[in-house]
Parts: sequence; structure tokens; C-alpha cells
Amino acid sequence: MSQTAVQRFYRYHARVYDSTRWMILHGRRRAVERLRLTPASSVLEVGCGTGLNFRYVLDHLDPQNGRLTGLDFSADMLERAARRVSSRHWDNVALVQGDATTMSLGRRFDGILFAYSLTMIPDWEAALRRACEHLKPGGRLVVLDFGRFAGWGPLGPPMRAWLKANHVLTMRPYLDLLRELFSELEIHHWLGGYNFTAVGRRPRHA
Ligand SMILES: C[S@@+](CC[C@H](N)C(=O)[O-])C[C@H]1O[C@@H](n2cnc3c(N)ncnc32)[C@H](O)[C@@H]1O
Repeated sequence: MSQTAVQRFYRYHARVYDSTRWMILHGRRRAVERLRLTPASSVLEVGCGTGLNFRYVLDHLDPQNGRLTGLDFSADMLERAARRVSSRHWDNVALVQGDATTMSLGRRFDGILFAYSLTMIPDWEAALRRACEHLKPGGRLVVLDFGRFAGWGPLGPPMRAWLKANHVLTMRPYLDLLRELFSELEIHHWLGGYNFTAVGRRPRHA
């Protein structure tokens, strides 16, 4: 796999990710709750990074019957996720190194989470379409990510520019594609557009 700019970015940032991102990445627990998991659910986190969402997912799963798969294309981030998983003896968590835009995991999931990953994926449309192909009928896909800072007045443009300098693109039409992909879609905007959560549900009988 050739190294993309985002992979290179995380070569360094993997080292400081857990100690810095708590300041800016919010809403994890609530986003996971919106997956409406059951103890036997199977869950995929796309762009799982160092695994900061795992504990919120695992809170809902039975260790014997529920399963979590974390996918990321950064070996540096996954190495940290692997340490987290093994130190906590989370035996029902599997990690996969792969690209969200081409992933083909050979099975479907009850819940799929993108947490602060979609806005960093250049071909985000392919990633979302791939994810939909991995969602079971009746399953939910939740996207938690930065918004457009629409209510931030003169602070909106510098916030967007700062995120862009860090490979996060906030102005792409994420919600338009989600509306196209899901006939049942809820969208929640927080803090004047700081971030949003979108919840798409795949009908049981399509
Ligand atoms: C801001 S981090 C979010 C990590 C984690 N989801 C969290 O909430 O802390 C974005 C992650 O997306 C991953 N990522 C970006 N593009 C990707 C792609 N095309 N395929 C897989 N992972 C990708 C990055 O390597 C990084 O670990």
C-alpha cells in the first residue's frame, strides 16, 4: 500500500494522539449509543485509530457473543490500538489494516461507526458506499465528525482552515450522500456546528 499524506501524518501523531485529542474530539459515548447495539451485535469501526471508542462499544457487548472489528490503514495507529486491546484482554476485538475505500471484509455488521475519520478520507464517497455494503439489513451506520462551524461567525473560517491544515475537510457534502444512501437518516448538530452525528438505518426488508 503506498503511503498517503494521512498515513504519513499519523506516523508522528500516533505518538501524541491519545494525550491530545481528548481536547477536541467529543461525543464518542453518545455516538456509540446511537448504534443501538445489543449484547450479540457485531460492530465495525472504520478508521478506528488507537481504539479510543472501543470501550464505549464494548460496554454494550457480551464478551462471548458480541464482536468488534477495528479497521484502519495506518500501521502506527493500529499498533497503539493493538496495545490497548491486549493490555485490557479484549478478546472479542479484531484489528484489520486496510483502506476504507476498498475494504472487503467478507461479512456484514449490525453497527458501523465512523468517528472523526470520514472527513480525513480523500475518497470519502467510496468509503461510505463500501461501509453500506457491509451493513446488515436493520443495521445502523453512525458518523460522528466535525461540522462546518456554521454558528461560529468570524471564528468559523479559521477553525475550518486549521482543520484543513490537519487533513480534515469539513465542507464536503457528507450529509447529502448520507441522505442518498439512507432513506431513514437522523442528523444531530452540536455546538453551533462544531460537530455532527448522523445515524443511518438500513431497512430490515429492502
Ligand atoms: C482522527 S482519527 C480517528 C480515530 C478514531 N476513530 C477516534 O475516534 O479517535 C482518523 C483515523 O482515520 C484513519 N483513516 C483515514 N483514512 C483512512 C482510510 N482511507 N482507510 C482507513 N483508515 C483511514 C486514520 O489513519 C486515523 O487513524
